[in-house]
Amino acid sequence: MPRSLKVRGDCIEKVKLAVRRNGFPSQKILAQEVGLALATVSNFLTGKSVDFATFEELCQRLALDWREIADLGDEAASVAINYRVPFQAPPLPSYYVDRPEHSQILKTWLLTNSSSNTKTLVITAIHGLGSVGKSTLANALAHDKDVQAHFRDGILWATLGQQPDILPLLSGWVQTLGDYNFRATNIEATCSHLRTLLYDKAVLLVVDDAWNPEDARAFNVGGGRCQVLITTREGAIAQVLGANTYSLDVMKPEQAMELLTKKLGRDLVGTECQEAQDLAASVGYLPLALELAAAQVIDSTDWAVLLQDLKGEIA
Ligand SMILES: Nc1ncnc2c1ncn2[C@@H]1O[C@H](COP(=O)(O)OP(=O)(O)OP(=O)(O)O)[C@@H](O)[C@H]1O
Ligand SMILES: [Mg+2]
Repeated sequence: MPRSLKVRGDCIEKVKLAVRRNGFPSQKILAQEVGLALATVSNFLTGKSVDFATFEELCQRLALDWREIADLGDEAASVAINYRVPFQAPPLPSYYVDRPEHSQILKTWLLTNSSSNTKTLVITAIHGLGSVGKSTLANALAHDKDVQAHFRDGILWATLGQQPDILPLLSGWVQTLGDYNFRATNIEATCSHLRTLLYDKAVLLVVDDAWNPEDARAFNVGGGRCQVLITTREGAIAQVLGANTYSLDVMKPEQAMELLTKKLGRDLVGTECQEAQDLAASVGYLPLALELAAAQVIDSTDWAVLLQDLKGEIA
């Protein structure tokens, strides 16, 4: 990030006009409202260097995009100086089962859709019922080498849930990108700062477990080379955000068996294999249910007893 910036010579008039247009009768009032010295505001308005945070704050107050008016000069190169490539995706479970029929399609979407072509941030949503494996699929994509190469400036991850605490999540992203000086006081300013940090970066922003569009929207902070990958149970979110939606369903029977085998850490043969297949079918090949069943078998519960219990629950 540049340490200081100045307004480009050909933009000074535009910036001065923006002062009155945005309801500040004078430089002095602007300085008072922003809590800066008059000399600092005057420096900004006359094309002299001010520190980066001040430049960004004044641009925000004056409804200006700092990238359009900044004299970047040699500073353009220094935007990357403190940048730290993030990788926030959690580790994949040891019993992870590949689901290529889904991951390949999504991977193609991520690698071929470009926000810089469409001029709007491309959003992909994985939509499906609870526990079908949406987050795990998003995570598998984040671990894919081609996806990592495409989003070479890193992968950010935020898990929202029903009542997310948005500001700390956004502020966490700021710090993960290597900026420890920014004080995240409100959502709007933090989003704006993240846009600044990410404007020339190719980062995948994973927004996991979104329950309403407004929450998810706060994380659409990427620049032209970023993309957003959302997981959600709510189909309406994807629609409201104009996301390309991918519907995920339960596992294939053979994938369910692979999950059970991997979770148990041993092959299933003979009668046990048949019992496991029956159980997988009776839980509807839902990954979470399979995982819980395997955990019970590890705890010495019999397949037949499990199946009996399940039938009792359904009846
Ligand atoms: N491909 C997979 N391989 C192994 N385990 C999986 C796989 N997909 C899902 N699971 C397991 O099933 C459980 C549910 O998966 P996950 O959390 O991804 O579902 P989800 O659709 O995101 O659920 P929710 O709607 O609650 O967010 C997890 O414990 C996960 O480890
Ligand atoms: Mg999830």
